[in-house]
Amino acid sequence: MSELLKVEALKVYYRLPQGVVRAVDEVSFSLERGEVLGIAGESGSGKSTLAMALAGLLRPPAVIESGRIIFDGLDLTKLGEGEWRKLRGRRIAVIFQDPGTYLNPVYTSGFQVAEVYEAHRGGRASRYVELVKDLYRKVKMADPERRVHSYPHQMSGGMKQRVLISMAIAEKPDLIIADEPTSALDVTIQAEIVELLKELKSETGSSIIFITHDLALLLEIADRIMIMYAGKMAELGRSSEIRDNPLHPYTRGLLSVLKPERKQKLASIPGSIPSLIDPPKGCRFHPRCPMAMPECSRVEPRTVKVNGRTVSCLLYEG
Ligand SMILES: Nc1ncnc2c1ncn2[C@@H]1O[C@H](COP(=O)(O)OP(=O)(O)OP(=O)(O)O)[C@@H](O)[C@H]1O
Ligand code: SF4
Ligand SMILES: [Mg+2]
Repeated sequence: MSELLKVEALKVYYRLPQGVVRAVDEVSFSLERGEVLGIAGESGSGKSTLAMALAGLLRPPAVIESGRIIFDGLDLTKLGEGEWRKLRGRRIAVIFQDPGTYLNPVYTSGFQVAEVYEAHRGGRASRYVELVKDLYRKVKMADPERRVHSYPHQMSGGMKQRVLISMAIAEKPDLIIADEPTSALDVTIQAEIVELLKELKSETGSSIIFITHDLALLLEIADRIMIMYAGKMAELGRSSEIRDNPLHPYTRGLLSVLKPERKQKLASIPGSIPSLIDPPKGCRFHPRCPMAMPECSRVEPRTVKVNGRTVSCLLYEG
């Protein structure tokens, strides 16, 4: 495998009148071609902010404060909107949680998928109807012939998510970023969509960044998992290692609250995620950490490698 993406010491801040929200604070990781990287962490840990940065979708008050995002040799933090328009959809595609908000109510679903082809290949969207029907078959849309002519309000949540997935895979992108793509759907549809993404991945060879609260799901589908806490990377490692031998106390907490029947909600670790305007000094997890030591409230952990794993916790330093 070769490296597709390298994120280096990325900082993304929201500059608000009441202070600076350090939503992504020195996060580094890489992604191989064809790899599925899962990102998990409680609400407010910076997952979506990271996804938006990777897709060039940050808008003020969000700013990339520093760091680099190297995608196939190109630093994405330096791209202008014109260059992003060529890249987004064609080489980097995004699937969001709530498909309804990304579809235009006044156009048919098929037309909106065809627009992806139009944007990158030219010609009129109507030329691409047959290709869109093929895509709908690929994403297992029921009755593709009819659904290309349906408007978003005539479709269920699951169907709309299949429309967004069709848009995402149309140009066989190198990278698909899926930010909670199933959380708005009911459980059976969720499972179908996840199954579909797995199948499509082996067909398109795309790398996938899959963001979710559902750590149990990531343990099933991701090659590696990154755990985020309060804007920081807590731990990154192969899924099997994270499952069998979590190193970071936060990862251990997340795993311990997973219920066998996969009714997991990460929020059941005692305490709550801190404000990212004025996060705790030292290790941001120290107020909730069962293993906290006196220095944890003073010294900020560095990110260190432990047996091929990356972890940010003073227990593993020196
Ligand atoms: N538009 C915004 N303006 C100001 N602050 C924001 C904005 N969007 C997010 N934040 C803040 O940035 C931090 C990270 O939020 P983000 O949405 O990236 O987290 P998340 O991990 O995706 O959470 P969730 O699981 O709820 O989707 C939070 O403190 C949040 O309040
Ligand atoms: S650095 Fe200290 S507080 Fe932070 S996770 Fe490690 S042991 Fe817990
Ligand atoms: Mg989010």
